[in-house]
Amino acid sequence: MLAGKVALITGATSGIGMATARLFAERGAKVLLSGRNAEAGAALASELGGTFLAADVAAPEAAKTLVDWALRCHGRVDVLVNNAGILFRGDSQDCTDAEWDAVLAVNVTAVFRLSRAVVPVMVGQGGGAIVNVASDWGLVGAQKAIAYGTSKGAIVQLTRSMAADHARQGIRVNAVCPGDTDTPMLHILAGPERETQLRAMAEAIPLGRIGQPRDAAAAIAFLASDDASFITGAMLPVDGGNSAV
Ligand SMILES: NC(=O)c1ccc[n+]([C@@H]2O[C@H](COP(=O)([O-])OP(=O)(O)OC[C@H]3O[C@@H](n4cnc5c(N)ncnc54)[C@H](OP(=O)(O)O)[C@@H]3O)[C@@H](O)[C@H]2O)c1
Repeated sequence: MLAGKVALITGATSGIGMATARLFAERGAKVLLSGRNAEAGAALASELGGTFLAADVAAPEAAKTLVDWALRCHGRVDVLVNNAGILFRGDSQDCTDAEWDAVLAVNVTAVFRLSRAVVPVMVGQGGGAIVNVASDWGLVGAQKAIAYGTSKGAIVQLTRSMAADHARQGIRVNAVCPGDTDTPMLHILAGPERETQLRAMAEAIPLGRIGQPRDAAAAIAFLASDDASFITGAMLPVDGGNSAV
């Protein structure tokens, strides 16, 4: 149900975004990939028969640049996956202004700007789907992640607000909320004792394992597809049950 759809995926150079790009391509979507790492992006685009454009989503002009590029490539955007994200650890006493601003710029403002830019395109073509990558830390509080948790909580509400505003224009807006997922971001979180930490994290998850990037990708693909045509404003945890307990 993704075949032939044009999908713009941010943060496609690593982790969940890369797995999403692979899954969308496997299912016949035309993938437009973005990230800052030009080498990884170009290699993935060549592997998948997609197209890559390097962009820093935190730059004010990035949204227009990416949407203009998508229209030049395929003339439409059926799916936008707002996946690019960054994490700094720290509570309210550790978090500097610079860290706070950086996290909010990438995790919230860039999602707002790119979604705002893609809406007129989707309205013009009769609809589309936006899938935001939030986090289980947007649903529940987490220690030592004040800026990140705040940003992901904002994405939960941005998703609901845009779903309400644009439903009658045929645009569905949903979010996946991954839990601990085996990507470079989680490795930073795990710190130097990575293997021990990852084992401890897995044991704390009801389903008893860390998520794989493909787990989140499968949920993103579902929400982007016509199988989810009656779903908008939903938050789908992909966290092994973490946010349920
Ligand atoms: N892994 C987890 O446990 C977990 C849990 C919950 C939610 N998430 C969310 O899942 C999403 C993907 O994270 P991940 O785990 O796959 O992390 P990752 O492997 O670190 O990948 C992050 C991606 O975001 C891109 N990115 C970061 N800053 C950017 C910027 N300023 N401009 C453009 N692209 C930027 C990176 O691209 P470049 O390096 O090329 O710039 C990279 O492709 C994030 O939104 C994250 O918050 C992850």
